[in-house]
Amino acid sequence: MSKGRIAVVTGGGSGIGQATAELLAAAGETVVVADCNTDAAEGVAEKLRQAGGTAHVRTIDVAEDQAVEDLFDDIETSVGPVGAVVHSAGILQNAMTTERTDRAEADRVMDVNYRGTWSVNVAAARRMKARQAGAIVNLASINSFAVMPIPAYNISKVAVRHLTEILACEYGVHGIRVNAVAPTYTITPAIQARIDSGHRDPEAIRNSGALKMLVRPRHIADGIVFLLSEQAAAITGVTLPIDAGWCVAQAYNGYPAAVEGFGQ
Ligand SMILES: NC(=O)c1ccc[n+]([C@@H]2O[C@H](COP(=O)([O-])OP(=O)(O)OC[C@H]3O[C@@H](n4cnc5c(N)ncnc54)[C@H](O)[C@@H]3O)[C@@H](O)[C@H]2O)c1
Repeated sequence: MSKGRIAVVTGGGSGIGQATAELLAAAGETVVVADCNTDAAEGVAEKLRQAGGTAHVRTIDVAEDQAVEDLFDDIETSVGPVGAVVHSAGILQNAMTTERTDRAEADRVMDVNYRGTWSVNVAAARRMKARQAGAIVNLASINSFAVMPIPAYNISKVAVRHLTEILACEYGVHGIRVNAVAPTYTITPAIQARIDSGHRDPEAIRNSGALKMLVRPRHIADGIVFLLSEQAAAITGVTLPIDAGWCVAQAYNGYPAAVEGFGQ
């Protein structure tokens, strides 16, 4: 890990973003916790400072293009040149057919998850280009590889994966790496709330991957920090599943016959 970069973490006020902010600050990065929930961002930043880290807070709605431009202008002026970005701001959708999905809700999911990724990545990469260096990690999902009955969210995460690949091609020549991680169901506050309301079954989640484990925000954060680090200097354009083996298990478990010796 190269020390002392300025790292912007959108969605840093909760879940995967928070866990990543904690690791980056502990590694000596100056962290900007950027979130639409200012109180949550302040709480995370205070925790980072109490642990000896350096943290700033910015309020942002990543779906607002001009606000994202203004955010990066502000950070570069008042904090310094941005060297790393983790774009973790995102919203979920409850299971629903396409026919019954409310279009306004679908548009909001696309605005935050896809449009926000576009705005944040371009605003960051354009500024990094002037310095010929930088690393970005986006939050895709196992939905980037497989369809589920959450159409707006699903499509937004396929878009994040493809956008990550396009940006990696565009900015590689400028020394900027753009990657994504694809988490499985991760026990963040957002997922915990869906478990509590009966929209998700924790045992089904545990059994859905080859490793039969619950994935925590720290597992995802570890992968993100790796992709931002010098150890990943030759890696760009990948969407890395951090999924306890979810992607590989789906086709394997769907094999239409009992497998002799399985699990022994
Ligand atoms: N938790 C999972 O199971 C899971 C799985 C796959 C992908 N992801 C993705 O990981 C990312 C983080 O998810 P999480 O589970 O940590 O969620 P979370 O709800 O715990 O945290 C998301 C954070 O983003 C902020 N946010 C939401 N909309 C915003 C906006 N318009 N502008 C700025 N900030 C905004 C929220 O205030 C919150 O602090 C999301 O992109 C999500 O789609 C999560």
